[in-house]
Amino acid sequence: MRTLIRHGTVVTPAGASVADVLIEGERIAAVGPQLSAPADAVFDATGRYVIPGGIDVHTHLDMPLGDTVTADDFESGTVAAAFGGTTSVVDFAVQDRGRPMREAWETWMRKAEGRAALDYGFHLIVTDLGAGGLEEMDALVAEGVTTFKLFMAYPGRLMVDDAVIFRALRRTADNGGMVLMHAENGGVIAELVARALAEGRTAPKYHALTRPPRTEAEATHRALALAELAGAPVYIVHVSCAEAVEEVAQARGRYAGALGETCPQYLFLSDECYDAPGFEAAKYVMSPPLRPRAGQERLWRALAADELQVVATDHCPFRMKDQKPIGRGDFSKIPGGAPGIEMRMSLLYDGGVRTGRISLGRFVELTATNPARIFGLYPRKGVIAAGSDADVVVWDPDREVTWSAATHHMRVDYNPYEGRVVRGAAVAVWSRGARVIEDGRFVGRAGAGRFLKRAPRGS
Ligand code: URP
Ligand code: ZN
Ligand code: ZN
Repeated sequence: MRTLIRHGTVVTPAGASVADVLIEGERIAAVGPQLSAPADAVFDATGRYVIPGGIDVHTHLDMPLGDTVTADDFESGTVAAAFGGTTSVVDFAVQDRGRPMREAWETWMRKAEGRAALDYGFHLIVTDLGAGGLEEMDALVAEGVTTFKLFMAYPGRLMVDDAVIFRALRRTADNGGMVLMHAENGGVIAELVARALAEGRTAPKYHALTRPPRTEAEATHRALALAELAGAPVYIVHVSCAEAVEEVAQARGRYAGALGETCPQYLFLSDECYDAPGFEAAKYVMSPPLRPRAGQERLWRALAADELQVVATDHCPFRMKDQKPIGRGDFSKIPGGAPGIEMRMSLLYDGGVRTGRISLGRFVELTATNPARIFGLYPRKGVIAAGSDADVVVWDPDREVTWSAATHHMRVDYNPYEGRVVRGAAVAVWSRGARVIEDGRFVGRAGAGRFLKRAPRGS
């Protein structure tokens, strides 16, 4: 099967130019002006951008949390992602304390197999290094699970101490893996939460008030210092506030291994959301929480200046009908997280490119090229170039979308951006050469996605 995408403006981090893109089978066969190869299908992309399929490196699909599980599984989550212009996800497999890491990976492989409509990789959430944990990390890196998320928060459940963090960092310095850090000071937050509950402050807004920005900045500083001491890179996930981004920026001044991600919710939503009446504010209970609007421009500047390298979603949806209410009467029990997998690209385009905060090339770099480079997928993914996987998006810069739970494709009953109108959207999407979005319909197949064996750093 040959598909020719004609007359589009092909965008790379380096710039944009009008060119044709020839897809042959699962790969891009050629990119250039006026390609004249015969094709089975021709798509006219005149006036539109042709960009690499987005890569969302921070999703939680089919993830158990207490007695519940995130509302999107690998089918509904990847279909929604495709509608938004994303063609690969890297999800998190969670190690049960005292159990082998491999068991977690195998469990998440079973969740994705036969369901994922897009290609998928895994990070491993490490809760316990145990006796053979470091050796297990080596083995996983060799098998393409090259990244390990550690938590400095959630004592008793996910949090590990500085010694464990340091040992894991040192190991990744040698084995080509990388640590992803959830940077919030869990000990301090636990004290603040206990005090708030004892004082009867149980409403959702206290989730945010018990996780002040300095708890994130402190942990971010510590994570970066530990990485520098270990001589290892570290990637700080979901950087939410100016205080934390300052820490990343300062560390990057002397240490190139300091990397960071932010998410649309921290760029577009603010702590004003916690003033919503009644239990509505539970929609926005996530960690780190939403922050004062005043800090958002600092995040945008960081994205433009390469102080942060990636925009991912932390897609972690729980329904308002029956899941968020688990924490009615105790904010600390509200399942944390929010949906975002479908909106990431259009929000960033509308709020970033259309406003002039970031260039078109930087938009592609933040959503696809950098995720591919940092997570061992480049140049297979993340670029429109001959030889790369044909993960291709035709992007209409003028297409208007109104985000709403009534029309989105995520399997969750609210949209944090309800009613927000954005301009810029995916209008045609191919995943490894197969059309997955056509005329506003999903035309791919659940189960068509393949496991992405990612390359270790430096290979
Ligand atoms: O509240 C959130 N963000 N839940 C998802 C898990 C995490 O920490 O990324
Ligand atoms: Zn996290
Ligand atoms: Zn997360």
